[in-house]
Amino acid sequence: MTSSIHQEDAEILENRQIGTGLFLMRLRAPDIASKIGPAQFVQVQTDPELAPFLRRPFSALRVDRTAGWVDILYEVIGRGTGRMAMFEPDTRLNLLGPLGMPFTPSDTGSLLLVAGGVGLVPLAFLVWEHADLLPRTTFLMGAANRDRMPDLSDLLPQNLDWHLATDDGSLGYHGFVTDLIPNHTRAGETTILTCGPHPMMARVAAIAGDMGHRCYASLENHMACGFGACVGCVVEYREAERDDLRYRRVCTEGPVVDAHAIVW
Ligand SMILES: Cc1cc2nc3c(=O)[nH]c(=O)nc-3n(C[C@H](O)[C@H](O)[C@H](O)COP(=O)(O)OP(=O)(O)OC[C@H]3O[C@@H](n4cnc5c(N)ncnc54)[C@H](O)[C@@H]3O)c2cc1C
Ligand code: FES
Repeated sequence: MTSSIHQEDAEILENRQIGTGLFLMRLRAPDIASKIGPAQFVQVQTDPELAPFLRRPFSALRVDRTAGWVDILYEVIGRGTGRMAMFEPDTRLNLLGPLGMPFTPSDTGSLLLVAGGVGLVPLAFLVWEHADLLPRTTFLMGAANRDRMPDLSDLLPQNLDWHLATDDGSLGYHGFVTDLIPNHTRAGETTILTCGPHPMMARVAAIAGDMGHRCYASLENHMACGFGACVGCVVEYREAERDDLRYRRVCTEGPVVDAHAIVW
């Protein structure tokens, strides 16, 4: 663990439901808020009694460095997130972070962000942190149906060009968010960044490859330690210059990786 990772007892300032199974939690954690960058994440100890024993990883959605808070947006999946949903303001949660490598966008060309479900979180943080990206960024957001789609006007910066898709057509385009990519890719150099379910990201990488665009994926592999010690989060990766397969630890060498090099 490097010294830039903090362990902090964060105070829950707010923990409210914003959609079916979706919660927004604001945590006062000044040390982590001061350092965390786009695509980095925190490991949350969801229960001080250590059940579940392992911390759970969550990306930062946005921060206020002056006030010292970090927002996370989480979906209730199992035991850890189920407990998180029950916490009242003033409760303290132990956080470890920032973890992972921050993502730095290209200085040139347009940016297409393609999110599925809570995969919107690291992509939203990127545009909160880099307001200069807004004029050259398009955000595509997909969810299963309108109940699973949070109100994006609350979660994304104003002036961001965004478009919705739902699998059942109950909100926005009827179909997969990946269908929107060709019509929303601007002319010229484009970088695509995606985060969401594994099959969705694989499809985004394939479309980007066909269109000849750079593509990065923010991976959410299962994690144990979150800082490189357990090798529990590896992804198979093809080194361009060597043409052989390697493994990379998503927690320390990611979570953002070159989507064209991943063995999906
Ligand atoms: C770097 C990173 C950033 C993340 N950011 C967010 C975020 O911003 N918001 C958010 O809601 N979630 C995020 N996740 C996923 C989140 O960590 C898991 O949903 C959470 O750990 C589930 O914990 P649990 O105890 O509730 O579920 P568990 O009881 O651990 O699991 C319940 C079920 O969900 C499956 N599951 C658990 N974790 C994952 C996972 N990572 N991917 C796919 N399936 C899983 C398990 O196999 C099991 O079937 C992120 C994960 C990573 C690695
Ligand atoms: S989670 Fe332990 S090495 Fe990545």
